[in-house]
This record gives sequence, structure tokens and C-alpha cells, in this order.
Amino acid sequence: MPTSLIVLAAGQGTRMKSDRPKVLHELGGVPLFAHALGAGRALEPERVVLVAGHGAAAVTKAARAFDPEIEVVVQDAQLGTAHAVAQARPVLAGVTGDAVVLYGDTPFITGETLERMQAARAGGADVVVLGFEAADPGRYGRLVVENGALTRIVEFKDATEAERAISLCNSGVVAADADLLFGLIDGVGNDNASGEFYLTDIVAVARARGLSAVAVTCDEAETLGINTRAELAAAEAQFQAAMRAEAIDNGVTLIAPETVFFAFDTWIGGDAVIEPNVVFGPGVTVENGARIRAFSHLEGCHVSRDAVVGPFARLRPGAELAEGARVGNFVEIKNAEISAGAKVNHLTYIGDAFVGAEANIGAGTITCNYDGVFKHHTHIGARAFIGSDTMLVAPVTVGDDAMTATGTVVTRDVPDGAMAVGRTRMEIKDGFWRKMYEKLKDKKAAQTK
Ligand code: UD1
Ligand code: CA
Repeated sequence: MPTSLIVLAAGQGTRMKSDRPKVLHELGGVPLFAHALGAGRALEPERVVLVAGHGAAAVTKAARAFDPEIEVVVQDAQLGTAHAVAQARPVLAGVTGDAVVLYGDTPFITGETLERMQAARAGGADVVVLGFEAADPGRYGRLVVENGALTRIVEFKDATEAERAISLCNSGVVAADADLLFGLIDGVGNDNASGEFYLTDIVAVARARGLSAVAVTCDEAETLGINTRAELAAAEAQFQAAMRAEAIDNGVTLIAPETVFFAFDTWIGGDAVIEPNVVFGPGVTVENGARIRAFSHLEGCHVSRDAVVGPFARLRPGAELAEGARVGNFVEIKNAEISAGAKVNHLTYIGDAFVGAEANIGAGTITCNYDGVFKHHTHIGARAFIGSDTMLVAPVTVGDDAMTATGTVVTRDVPDGAMAVGRTRMEIKDGFWRKMYEKLKDKKAAQTK
């Protein structure tokens, strides 16, 4: 069944005490809303609509950056969750199949749970609501179930004492045929304690129209919403704990798991070893058997089998390490391919470059890739030997089996097999330092008299 996602993200999130809209606060290195979208991808949605409101311009920009196909609609006034969903109606006009409503501030919903909702729809339920047994039901909406069927949802503010005693709560996630959903919303009013158009009322509307509704349940942990900075920090801890456990389960060695930080999409292969105090930003894949040594920071990069990174290395977006490549301490790699067996071991910057197989890059090498306006490319051939403290002024090519002498400023291409030497010729002055030292000492003595 084709599916569209509607992600509600119009709320301000006053309790975050932030100028930023709530859904733009980050969890696992990406905006909050991206987590709900990630879960929704399990349904292979054909359309994804984000309902923005507070900070709509910023939310739109972030949504597009995350996924250019996301459609953003703006809810100018937050008149309730049903009103929010209704904003998606014009862009989803004429779609076939289901709509699934998610909240942008609820990051832990799993794809597996959404698939169970989809299965309940396939099983014949017209409206499927995701509920959970709450340890402390607090102010959640309550699901009223009679004879196995969901008859209505009552918001806490509008609930009787008896209804408040129900522990089965509403997560907010709903699935129904898209056309039907919008039709049901037409039947929702705002005559309630909040004066809002409640999405939850679609259940009673559906039942009144002779349609069926069921509740699918999930673990309470999945429905955790973020409202405050403290909840965001707790959610980050929960997210990191889950990522660490998953990596360990998959056969990755984490020497000090609690000191390793993952992004939402970090992928690490079996038998990789991650030493303490490593941070993964978004977009990192590390293949089997690689080793990431302590205090390294990686984002947007790929580390192949048996490569070794760090300690104290920084891999920036576009860093591509082939099998067995080595990137050592105080080395930064950006938008550069380090081929199989190449070594970049000490105090070096390699940016916008290609480093050939088995090349050796000496300590203190810099690709001078930026002229203040444009970025330029450096090519270093296979088995090249770059002497320590070489400045490679890009665009420039050092050929296969070529060499640069220590301290060379490479401003022209070096042919295959050749050596470039470009430094000031050294002189020897006998007895110079001792003589100068005595003079300086005399001068100081004269001053302090
Ligand atoms: C809602 C549910 C409640 C459920 C709870 C779970 C309704 C009426 N109530 O209550 O049954 O137990 O979530 O957390 O649906 N939003 C908009 N536009 C609006 C209003 C809300 O985009 O006009 C968004 C918010 O940004 C948020 C989500 O919808 O992401 C839920 O809104 P919120 O006000 O938090 O609903 P609750 O009162 O918590
Ligand atoms: Ca809420």
C-alpha cells in the first residue's frame, strides 16, 4: 500500500527556552524531526509532508537539507493537531493509499512499530492509533477500548475521573487511508477544554460513521517526546546507549562504550575497534577490522577494512580511506581519497586531494588548497614519497614514484619518478653560535648593571 507521511512540527517548544524551533534541536547529530522521518522510511513513503509553524523558514531549510524531496506546509496558527494535519491536505490531494501521522518531537518511534500499524490497516482496521501502557499516564490522552475495539480518545483535560484511571495512552501516531483521514478531520470540532481541533477526535468520528478503529501498542520508551533541554539531554543519553549496544551486538569492540558518541546513521562493521573518546558525526561508515584510535573525530567519511585512524585524527566530509590506509595523530583529512596502504601519519592537512596507493606523506605536509576564493586539487601518485614539511600549492600533481625533499614548496607538477627540491640551500658558519651567544650575554650584562 503506498504511504504518505505527515510529520507535525509546528509547535514552538516554549519549554526549550530557545530561539530555535524545537524540532531543530539536535539528537544524534541531526535535527529532532529527522528521527521520526527515519522511522517512517521503513514504510517506503511516496510523499513526506512536514507541517511547520514556529520558525517555519528555518524548519523548511533544515528539512530540505536533510531530504530535498520533503514537502513543507505551514500552519500559521497552532489550532490543534487535527488542524495541523489538515494543512497537508492540499499537497496530498488525490494521493492514493495511507497517511501516517508522526510527531517531529518524538524521535524513538521505530520502523518496526510503524510496520505493525501498517499490518493492522491491512488487517481491515480503518483507523489505527498507536498507544502505550504508561507507567505514569500523567496528561496523555487516554484510549477508550471496548470489547477490543477503540471507541474514542479522550484528552486528559476533558477526561472524567474514571477515564483518567485508564493507563493505555495515546502516542499521537495515527494511520488511515489519506482521503478518509482528511474526511474524518472535517468532522472534528473544537468544542473542548482547550478550544483546539484534536486529531484524537477522528476515532469517535470514524466510529459514528460506522468505521472501525484499533489500537496497536508499543513500548513507552518509543513514545518519549522532547519538551525541555533536560528531556533532550536524557534522550541523547538514551540514543547513545542504544547505538553503543547495537554496535557491540554487531561485533564491534568498544573499549570504553560510554565515551564513544554516534550519529543517527553511523555504520560500523564487525571486528572494528573503537578506542575511547571517539566522536562520530553524521555520514560515517567504518568497515570491518578498521581501528579508530582514541580522541578522533569523524564525519561524512568512509574508512575501509583494516585502516587505522588516530589517535587525535580528524576526518572531515569526503575523506575516503581505502584498505589498510593509515591516518595518524594530528592529521586532518577533508574531501580526499587516501588509497590502499598509503600513510599520512603525523601533523598534516590533506584537503581536496588524491593520495595514491602506498604513498608516504611526511610529517607536517600541507596541501595549500585554498587561494582565498577557490579550492584547488592536489594529486599525489602511487608510491610517492612526500618529505616532511612539504607545502603542496594546489592545483598541483606529484607523479607516481616521485619524491619531494623535506621543506619543499611544490608550485609546479613533479613528473613520475622525479624529485622536487625547493628549499633555501643550507650554509655552515664555523663557530657562529658560540660567538653570538657571548655577545648577547655581554649585552645583557651591560643592561642590568
Ligand atoms: C497530543 C495528543 C495526546 C497524546 C500526546 C502524546 C491531541 C489532541 N492530543 O497531546 O492525546 O497523548 O500528544 O504526546 O492530539 N502540533 C502542531 N500544530 C498544532 C498542535 C500541535 O504541529 O496546532 C504538533 C506539536 O508541535 C507536537 C505535536 O503536534 O509535535 C503534538 O502536539 P502537543 O501540543 O504536544 O500535543 P499534546 O497536548 O501533548
Ligand atoms: Ca506533547
